[in-house]
Amino acid sequence: MDDHADIAEAAAALKAGGLVILPTETVYGLAADAGDARAVAKVYEAKGRPAFNPLIAHVADIAMARRIAVFDDRAERLAAAFWPGPLTLVLPIADTAAVCDLARAGLDTVAVRAPAHPVAQALLQAFGGLLVAPSANRSGRPSPTTLADAVAETGGSAAVALDGGPCWIGLESTVVALLDEARLLRPGAVTRAEIEALIGPLSEADADAKRSPGRLTRHYAPNLPLRLNAEEPRAGEVWLGFGRKGGSGFNLSPDGDLAEAAANLFAYLRAADLADGATGISVAPIPDTGLGEAINDRLRRAAGYIG
Ligand code: TXA
Ligand code: MG
Repeated sequence: MDDHADIAEAAAALKAGGLVILPTETVYGLAADAGDARAVAKVYEAKGRPAFNPLIAHVADIAMARRIAVFDDRAERLAAAFWPGPLTLVLPIADTAAVCDLARAGLDTVAVRAPAHPVAQALLQAFGGLLVAPSANRSGRPSPTTLADAVAETGGSAAVALDGGPCWIGLESTVVALLDEARLLRPGAVTRAEIEALIGPLSEADADAKRSPGRLTRHYAPNLPLRLNAEEPRAGEVWLGFGRKGGSGFNLSPDGDLAEAAANLFAYLRAADLADGATGISVAPIPDTGLGEAINDRLRRAAGYIG
């Protein structure tokens, strides 16, 4: 693997059916040509991901997205407001060849997102087509937010790894399905309130796991057991504090800033896993407002509280 590669080398590797480790503003992805089923199969294999869990198709802009997905008025409004950025829209598929069946897990819908990271944008422009890119972790593990973590997870399967520095958001994109009712399938940096301000109330049945196939299993999990909403660490536990709940160990954000906590979350879970002699990880309470909804969602899944 070449981890000092440039954009042109990465685009050439993708054209040749290879995989590329790709920085985005949310987390690092493992990218393949969306229309190349053999390349997409390598992505599932590299992650150890079940093939019923579909992938997100990444586009440079809304014009590219309109060519493959059916945009209604709600989709137009959300894309205009939040693209490029950390929002994924699940829409009816319009061009089944552009995003192969395997990438969509055979569904007649497609998840589409325009990432804001300049390296991701440059690669999409140079490649000139759609890229599917799941988070670059092995299935079930915390998503990588640095090049080193991405390479440690799935680098062995990638032809090229692009360095984009640490991801500044640190949690995967918000996923909204706009099929019949609008549903929040995965909370993220674009918050429920921001979405509802533009398209009205989201359906209450939003945690419907069947509609979000990738969310059925324990996810984002460190190796050590995780205890949430802890007042203080017990003997043997590595502490992840928040705000004034400091102390020894890590603090997700000493100032109690949710954006900072989101950016640190996965890297700190990985670091806590490596602490000498640790038997568990405990995390201070995180407020459930705004971006806190996404942080608590990832923590509950990492702890195995959501099956
Ligand atoms: O921030 C992100 O979205 C990152 C970066 C790399 O862009 N990507 C990412 O991909 O998180 P992944 O594959 O780890 O998560 C995609 C989620 C999964 O929960 C999957 O089930 C869901 O999107 N998804 C994809 N296509 C879908 C579809 N057609 N219907 C419902 N859910 C879908
Ligand atoms: Mg993932």
